[in-house]
Amino acid sequence: MSHVVIRIESTAHTAGVGMITSEGEILSNQRAVYIPEEGGIHPREAANHHTESLPELFRKALKEAKLEPNDISLVSYARGPGLGPCLRTGATAARAFAYSHGIPLLGVNHCVAHLEIGILEGATDPVFLYLSGGNTQVIAYAAGRFRVFGETLDIGIGNGLDKFAREVGMGFPGGPKLEKVARGPELLDLPYSVKGMDMAFSGLMTAAKSKLDAGHSLESVAFSIQETAFAMSCEVSERALAHTGKKELVLGGGVACNSRLREMAMTMAEERGIRCFVPERALCVDNGVMIAWLGHQMMGADYSISEEDNVVDQKYRTDMVEVTWR
Ligand code: ATP
Ligand code: FE2
Repeated sequence: MSHVVIRIESTAHTAGVGMITSEGEILSNQRAVYIPEEGGIHPREAANHHTESLPELFRKALKEAKLEPNDISLVSYARGPGLGPCLRTGATAARAFAYSHGIPLLGVNHCVAHLEIGILEGATDPVFLYLSGGNTQVIAYAAGRFRVFGETLDIGIGNGLDKFAREVGMGFPGGPKLEKVARGPELLDLPYSVKGMDMAFSGLMTAAKSKLDAGHSLESVAFSIQETAFAMSCEVSERALAHTGKKELVLGGGVACNSRLREMAMTMAEERGIRCFVPERALCVDNGVMIAWLGHQMMGADYSISEEDNVVDQKYRTDMVEVTWR
C-alpha cells in the first residue's frame, strides 16, 4: 500500500475526512456541513456538530478507501485559520486517531491546503485566486513563501454572499443559491472597490440590498453582485499575473464552484495566453483531501514535525508558512 494520508478538516462549517495516496489518488472525501437554523454560524454549535459527525466520517472514509488504520502513514489536520472551537475539535479528533494507532500527526494551514490541491490539477508555479467564505486572496509563490499579493480589506466574498442571501431570506449557504437566480437582465451599478491589489466587498453587499429595496429584481441584483465581485477578483489576479510574469492561474475555495466565476477566469486566462486550472467542485469547498495532500507534500520534503506544528492558531495566515516542499 502506498503512502496514505488522512486529513481532517474542521475550520468552520464543514467537518471532513479525506484520504489520498502519495501519488495523489483520492480514495475518499467524506464531508458533513453544519447549517445554522437561523442567523450566522455559531462557533460552539458548529464544533458540537463536528464532534458528532467526525467518528462516522472516519468510519465511512476507511470503508470507502478499503483501508485499515495501520495502512495510514500520516494524519494531518487543519491547524488554522478558522474558528477556535471548530479547530480544537478537529485537532482533538486527529490527535485521538493518530495516537491510538501510532501514526505521526501534523497540523497544516487551511488556505495553503486549498492552494496545493489546485496545483495538483497540473499547475507548477501559478497565481492562485482563493475565494471562500472567510477568505479572498490572490497568492503567488516567491522566495520561500506563498505571498499574498492582494486580499479583501473587509469581509470574505463568500461571507458577503451568505450575508446578503440571509438578509433576503434565502438561507445558507448563500453563494450557490444566488448563483441559481443570477440571471439579470439588468446590470446594476454597484461599488467596484479595488484599491491597489486589495478589494472590499462590504459596501457592495450593502448597496446590493438597497437596490433590491428600491424595487430591482433579485435576479438582476444577484447577477450584478456576481459580475462586480468576480470582475474585481479577476482584475487583481490579472495584475498579479502581469507583475510576477507567471503563466498559470489556479482557482480555489468554495466560491470557485461558481460557473460564472470559472468562465470569467478562463476568459481572462485565454486572453492572456496562459493556462487556467479549476479543481472539481468537491475539492474547491472545504474538504479533508486537501489537508491530507498538503500534509503529504510537507512530509515528502523531509519535514520534521515540531511541537509548534500541533498548536491550533485561529489567525494562521497563508504567508506564515515556510514552504519547504517547492
Ligand atoms: P475558508 O476558511 O477557506 O474561508 P470556508 O469555511 O468559507 O473556507 P469553503 O467551503 O471554502 O469554506 O467556502 C464556502 C463558501 O463558498 C460559502 O460562503 C458559500 O456561499 C460559497 N459558495 C459555495 N458554492 C458557491 C457558488 N456556486 N457560488 C458562489 N459561492 C459559493
Ligand atoms: Fe476553506
